[in-house]
Order: sequence, then C-alpha cells, then structure tokens
Amino acid sequence: MAGEKHMSLLAQAATLLLFFASVFGSTGPGSRENLGASRIPSQFSEEERVAIKEALKGAIQIPTVSFSYEKSNTTALAEFGEYIRKAFPTVFRSSLVQHEVVAQYSHLFTVQGSDPSLQPYMLMAHIDVVPVSEEGWEVPPFSGLERNGFIHGRGALDNKNSVMAILHALELLLIRNYSPKRSFFIALGHDEEVSGTKGAQKISALLQARGVQLAFLVDEGSFILEDFIPNLKKPVAMISVTEKGSLNLMLQVNMTPGHSSAPPKETSIGILSAAISRLEQTPLPNMFGNGPLKKTLKLLANEFSFPANIVLGNLWLFRPIVSRLMERNPITNALVRTTTALTMFNAGIKENVIPPLAQATINFRIHPSQTVQEVLELVKKIVADDRVQLRVLRSFEPLPVSPSDDQAMGYQLLQQTIQSVFPEVNIIVPGICIANTDTRHYASITNGMYRFNPIFLQPQDFRSIHGINEKISVQNYQNQVKFIFEFIQNADTYSQPAPHLHEL
Ligand SMILES: *[C@@H]1O[C@H](CO)[C@@H](O)[C@H](O)[C@H]1NC(C)=O
Repeated sequence: MAGEKHMSLLAQAATLLLFFASVFGSTGPGSRENLGASRIPSQFSEEERVAIKEALKGAIQIPTVSFSYEKSNTTALAEFGEYIRKAFPTVFRSSLVQHEVVAQYSHLFTVQGSDPSLQPYMLMAHIDVVPVSEEGWEVPPFSGLERNGFIHGRGALDNKNSVMAILHALELLLIRNYSPKRSFFIALGHDEEVSGTKGAQKISALLQARGVQLAFLVDEGSFILEDFIPNLKKPVAMISVTEKGSLNLMLQVNMTPGHSSAPPKETSIGILSAAISRLEQTPLPNMFGNGPLKKTLKLLANEFSFPANIVLGNLWLFRPIVSRLMERNPITNALVRTTTALTMFNAGIKENVIPPLAQATINFRIHPSQTVQEVLELVKKIVADDRVQLRVLRSFEPLPVSPSDDQAMGYQLLQQTIQSVFPEVNIIVPGICIANTDTRHYASITNGMYRFNPIFLQPQDFRSIHGINEKISVQNYQNQVKFIFEFIQNADTYSQPAPHLHEL
C-alpha cells in the first residue's frame, strides 16, 4: 500500500512534468513597470469588440484547406486575400504599410517605423487549415458560429485567430494614428500545414534578398496552459524556444524475385519486417533531463506544493523513475525522446510471386538534443543488416534553441506583455514545441524564434487542434488582439537592460 501510494505520487509528478519535460533554463520575473511614455491604451469600444469577433467568424467561414502538399483550396486562399482587404481597410490604405502578395496566396506586410536604427521584428501566422471530417462537430466546421461565448470552427485556434488578431490589432492602432518607431513585418503563410515551402520559404527568400535580419520573430506553437497539471492550479505561459526536427527515412530491401513454389529462406518482406520491428521495439534513447533543464525544474519546483516540489527539486534522485514514467504516455514520451513512427509499408505484386522489392517509411521526430546524423547512426546500429538500405527522403534538424536570458529582446518583450495583459499569469517558462511551424524557414535571418499564442488553453482545447470542435472563447480572442496591440507598442519602447559591468 505504501509502495503503491509512493508510485502514484511519482506518477502525478510525472504528469505535472508533462509540459516542463524539455524546458531549458528559465528567466526570473521581469519588470512590471510601464514601458511607454505616450501609449495608446488598449481599450476598445463595444462596436470595435463586436467587429473583432465578427471578423474572425468571417475568416473561419472561408475553407482555406491544405489537403496535401499538391492540393489546397486555391479558390478559398484567393478569397481570403480579398477578405482581409475588406476587413482591414486602414491597414491596406495606410502609407506606413506596404503589402505584398507572395507566391500568389501568402502575404507580407512591411510596417515602416520612424527609427531606422532599430532592428525590425516579425509577427507570423498561417492562413491555411487542416481538413475536417464533418462527423462529431457540434456545429458545421466552417460555420464560424458563436455559441456560449465561443467561436467555433476549423482554424479558430490553428491559426486564423493569429492571422486576424495581428491584422486587427494593427488596424486598431492605425485608426488611432499610431506610427511605430520600430519597423516590423507581418508574414502570413498559406501552406504551413503542408510544410510551408511554397509560402513561408518564399517570403523568407524575399527578405533575405533584401538583406533583412530580424531582431526576433513570434509565431504560433505554444500557449498559456491551464489545468494540464494536477497539482498546479496556476496557469503557465510557455514560450517555445525550439522545436523538434524531423526525418523521413525509407528502408528498402532488394532481392532476386522468384516463384513462391520454391521460396528462398529469406525474402525481402521478411528481412524488412524484421528490421522495422527491431526499430519499433528499440526506442531511441530517453533524453530526459538533458541540458540546463534541471535548473528550470528547480525554479518551477517552488510553484508546486508537497510532494511534487520535492520530486521536481530533487531530480538527481528521482530522475530515473520520473523519466521512465514519462515514457508511458505518448505526449510525454514525445517530449523526452526522438520518436519512431512507422507510417508506410509496401511490398508485393501478386500472391504467387516473391517480390524483389520491399519498402517502408519511418517518420522520426528528433529531440532538440540530437541531430539527423546521430539518429541515422542509431538506426543503422539497430537495423544491423546491410541488406536493408536506408534512404533519407526528407529531413531537417531540430531548431536551434533561441535565447531566453535577460538580453533576449523577443523573449523579454513577450514576458513583459504577458505580465501586463495577464497579471494573473506568474509562471512564464521557455519550452519546446513537439510539432512544427513555419519558423524554420526563417532560421537564417534571426536567432530569436519564439512560438507563443496569448491564449489560455486547456487539455480538451489541445485535442481540438487538428481534431473536432475546434473553438476559441470570445474573451480569449479579444485578449489576443489586446496582447498584440500592447506588444507592438512595447517593441517601440524596449530598451536593452544594461549588461552587468565589472566595477573598476
Ligand atoms: C473551396 O473554397 C470555396 C470557397 O472559397 C468553396 O466554395 C469550395 O467548396 C471549397 N472546395 C473544397 C473542395 O473544399
């Protein structure tokens, strides 16, 4: 009984580690002082508040679906371009804003600041959405219907909320005669859900050709997490500073074909299945606790009550048990290691022919403390059969870890804005994004890539992304607009904290 109780405490601790598993390094609370001299208050009239939510509903109603890499609803994407012109007339009319359509359906806005000595930044979002299965939705997925304080539909959280909130915040600022000091870009990709190579990559190429280097960028990818953690009632704002890499690997076995009446001892199918079975049975190493994670967990431990704080604060002791518990749940498992997903298997042409060729594809999602090359070497070792050829179909490294120290402007600005717009949020931590975003296409023009949506998110909302009944509360959405409205102004008045100087 005692042992059982002990295990359940540890299980609880492991659950609460769910989203801290790969947090590395944390910064202390920043200053809460008012940053600006002549700020425009983020107060919106009733009429404006209605316009804010209605604009989002209209955006959801346009089914900008990316069906596959080759196929997207281009009619809807074109319609969306028309829609934002109508919804944000001031943005499109302003002499401070230059608008460009990139690759037919993506959009780049350049907002001219008055002080050219300030390095520009970029706000990002994507227009496309994943397909829906009509079944299981409480309201039609492209209706944008409002019910019980929620706006429903595909894209409500991923990611039309950001597209519309960024443009709406800018619209409201410009209506109030705002003119930025610091230039910034708004990049809206149209194929993020299917790799971003047509949209974001083209926008990035354009900026590179113009010699643009960004101070930082902010994209989707993380939230203010609520009720994810049993022992922790307080919301946790997680700013993702990295994301996992990816490797699509084809395994292939080529043998001489033959008649099934006199089969050889081993066939291409048998050899290949044995190899991929070994891979499935041999998970890649658990990276839990790598890097400066321990320090962050220690800081976070103060936020928890007994006994979780003891477990988190003493990982040197509990690490082996906690890291094993993390493996039990697919999400926590994805946070601690490079995952191995067998996704395709093809062989055979006729029931009485031994096929010459068998092929399988595996999708690895690479933990930020590993590289594509390291994963390939581990795979070779596990397969341990020269007859199995490995072919890399597509790969990219985990994204570099963006800075989150007190000199990191993007991180600090997010932190300051979170603290002023959401005073109830006291825990702000850097984190990892287990999915991928468009940010990787911009890695060459900035080292400050932050993924954060100023939205309170609960576990059931998490599942609705790419699932059913995706929705956003009107309150959450209006706060997102307010957040961006504040953020843009904070970027103007940001001053680098003085580096610590040695005393003479
Ligand atoms: C594509 O979008 C248009 C609206 O722009 C819509 O009428 C049409 O049904 C959509 N097509 C598909 C296949 O979803």
